[in-house]
Amino acid sequence: NWKLHPSSEAEAIKLARASDAKNVVICPPFPYLPTVRKTLRHAALGAQDVFWEEQGPYTGEVSPAILKNFGARYAIIGHSERRAWLHETDSMISEKVRTALMAGLRVVLCVGESKEVRRKGLAAAQRFIAAQLKQDLKYLNSKSYALSSKLVVAYEPIWAIGTGRPDKPEEAAAMARFIKKLLTARYALPAPKVLYGGSVTSANARRIFSQGEIDGALVGGASL
Ligand code: 13P
Repeated sequence: NWKLHPSSEAEAIKLARASDAKNVVICPPFPYLPTVRKTLRHAALGAQDVFWEEQGPYTGEVSPAILKNFGARYAIIGHSERRAWLHETDSMISEKVRTALMAGLRVVLCVGESKEVRRKGLAAAQRFIAAQLKQDLKYLNSKSYALSSKLVVAYEPIWAIGTGRPDKPEEAAAMARFIKKLLTARYALPAPKVLYGGSVTSANARRIFSQGEIDGALVGGASL
């Protein structure tokens, strides 16, 4: 997730080349999608957001169909930065998840608790995440299995994003286990995938993922 970086196309090409590997998804700002698509040989392409309607009077928005036409296979939805700065609500996010999945995009749904919630302990954080998932996935049910198999949940505790202080490996793993159980129980997902995001770097990744429960990383700063 490059977020709002870089500021030139030449830098985007350089970055894309540097991370072009299998099992990597690169999510650049929208205007770079065509360029990054042309540059990549191994990695997949994703977008950082997507709108919940396919077309209409929605100034500034981008639909799942447009993203797919430009080669994106994934869309990040519900990132905490969008929740905070753009006031995206769980209701908006649930619409985005529904439209994107129905259009055949793979969805990386971001959830995460604030520092205030986490201070009350892991159990409080888990209750928060369970409530967030319930709202964000309200259109998913156990019958929409085909759709939900395209869903990846990224656990991104807000307090760990961009701070250089990732979650403790055991607690991130406990949260991943909790989310997987919940997805299986609620939506009958046999093998849900959970990513961890928040200050992951090449120096700490091995330690963070040492518990074996987390399926991958959602990387911000270190992807630059
Ligand atoms: P950082 O890796 O910069 O902490 O960002 C994580 C993130 O928000 C990825 O979506």
